[in-house]
Amino acid sequence: MVTKTKDTYQECAEDIFCGVNTVTDIKQATDLEKKHLPIISAPKTVKKGECFEVTVEVGKLLKHPNEPGHFIQFIELYAGDTYLGRMDFTAKTTCPIMKACVSLDHAHGKLRAFERCNLHGTWESEVDIKVTE
Ligand SMILES: [Fe+2]
Repeated sequence: MVTKTKDTYQECAEDIFCGVNTVTDIKQATDLEKKHLPIISAPKTVKKGECFEVTVEVGKLLKHPNEPGHFIQFIELYAGDTYLGRMDFTAKTTCPIMKACVSLDHAHGKLRAFERCNLHGTWESEVDIKVTE
């Protein structure tokens, strides 16, 4: 079952193109969810002002198609609501993996990744991150 991130999206829970989709219990994830959930790899703790690498991969749990009629259009990365970066993809010739170097002066909130599939809408995942002095 597709789960929306905000209560306000409950009225359109059946429409995959309304709002942002996410997975609340990865152990219960369907194949559709496994194919679309962006998986974030990042340190759990980082030092203030120091660069660290974040990798976001779509299709890590279950391979997502990568053909002109069905592919991942972009991945965006945020710290809380603070925009960090974006990568656009084309079918066949690029893989839906974003690698970014990030430097945070303070904790903005969780690291959040969004991805957009041309056939299955927008998907989000998040991980905790702590910024130390
Ligand atoms: Fe898809």
